[in-house]
Amino acid sequence: MSALDAATNDLATITLNARPQNAALENLENSGDARIGWPDEKPPVPTNSDGWFLPANQQVLRDLVKPDALVLELGSYIGKSTRFIAGLLHEGGHLLTCDAWDNDLLEGALGHNYLRSDDEKRSFELYETFLVNLWDLRRTVTPMKMLTVDAIRATHAAGLAPDLIYVDADHDYAGVRRDVELCSRLFPDAVLVGDDWDYAGVREAAQELRGSRPLHVGGFKCWAYAELPRSARAVVVPPHDNPIAMGGVTFWPDARKQERRDVLLFRCVFDQLQAWDNAEALEYLLEATACAPDASSPSHKHRTLLMVAALFGRVRGIRALAARGADVNRQAPGSGEHALQLAAYGGRLDAVAELLRLGADATLRTKYDETAEDAARANGQDACAELRTGAAPAARRGDKDGRADAAKGEKAPWFDAAATAVYARTPPAATPAPAPWRRGGGSLR
Ligand SMILES: C[S@@+](CC[C@H](N)C(=O)[O-])C[C@H]1O[C@@H](n2cnc3c(N)ncnc32)[C@H](O)[C@@H]1O
Repeated sequence: MSALDAATNDLATITLNARPQNAALENLENSGDARIGWPDEKPPVPTNSDGWFLPANQQVLRDLVKPDALVLELGSYIGKSTRFIAGLLHEGGHLLTCDAWDNDLLEGALGHNYLRSDDEKRSFELYETFLVNLWDLRRTVTPMKMLTVDAIRATHAAGLAPDLIYVDADHDYAGVRRDVELCSRLFPDAVLVGDDWDYAGVREAAQELRGSRPLHVGGFKCWAYAELPRSARAVVVPPHDNPIAMGGVTFWPDARKQERRDVLLFRCVFDQLQAWDNAEALEYLLEATACAPDASSPSHKHRTLLMVAALFGRVRGIRALAARGADVNRQAPGSGEHALQLAAYGGRLDAVAELLRLGADATLRTKYDETAEDAARANGQDACAELRTGAAPAARRGDKDGRADAAKGEKAPWFDAAATAVYARTPPAATPAPAPWRRGGGSLR
């Protein structure tokens, strides 16, 4: 252990001893459960800023987390929200955070909620990456590498009573219900806040279990059994806008700026598209916000929702928007940007393939006289170049870059090649098993 790490550990102990809940926290950290607390050594892996944590959630937590609070977080992933919450706490505040931190679980049984594409595999170990991401916050954060129910029970058994619980683990109805029910029973005074209201299971469970507690939703994303203090300044979407979707819940779209209502609603759907490729959630939001599939916003370069879905490679989103009548060839006023060009620019091959299938025109040009293929090249999308030279059927090539076909008004061969290659793609090789010492919290302590 380095001198600096040793000094930080000492400081952590001193700080822990000074807290009102110090004895209970110490009980928890010294319970002998190897899954709780920090290892002695920092794992040798790089930091990583991946995660799901949107401005709406940040706003709600800023409003509700008191600086000296004890917070319990369910579902940390690699710590994006954990860092944010820890940053809201001052001396005297503390954050317990739990996660299974199990790549196999996340990409297997839980995959339907956490994978952004069907064959996604992470190239990093969740647990070690979390530890490294949060290493400098060891005095404020206690990790618990276990299932949520075990962490909730361990917290209770240690005599700790969180002031606020952030629920962002399981997103299926049964799992959310289990977590919210247990927290409500064991910690009746805690304020419960949760992510992903746009998930049906989350909505149902949170609504069923609210009892007499208020239920407010920030940005159509972050729900809370609490009044949101900034509500008075928020632009409200009244329940009568869409009684079915609103279900008697008060919604407060994220309103840090005094934006027009349609701009706020666009931003809600934008946030959802940025975070996930979930058609069900998108459908719900489009209903709830009454956002047209071709809606666009000056705050987002006049891009339509379909363009946003293309930029982020959200294939299900593209399909859902197109099924609702979104125009795949619409161009943004001024820039001339369009969905296919944005997907190509971002190297989103699945989205390129889907847009072509839906009739996107590869010959459209932006204000800068750029085709989608030009955009891909300009942004150094090597996969695109490979596809053009390697996978494009020779008989369909025009000149060496396929420009002749484009000039004739046909689809550029590169894009057909992209579509062919995407549909024919073979599954990735299985990820090798991680070294045994890396598994589980115990071996790292
Ligand atoms: C959406 S991610 C959390 C995102 C995180 N809050 C952030 O800001 O990036 C959900 C996490 O919950 C974890 N998880 C899901 N169900 C769980 C359970 N029953 N027990 C423990 N962890 C669980 C997953 O491993 C995953 O890392």
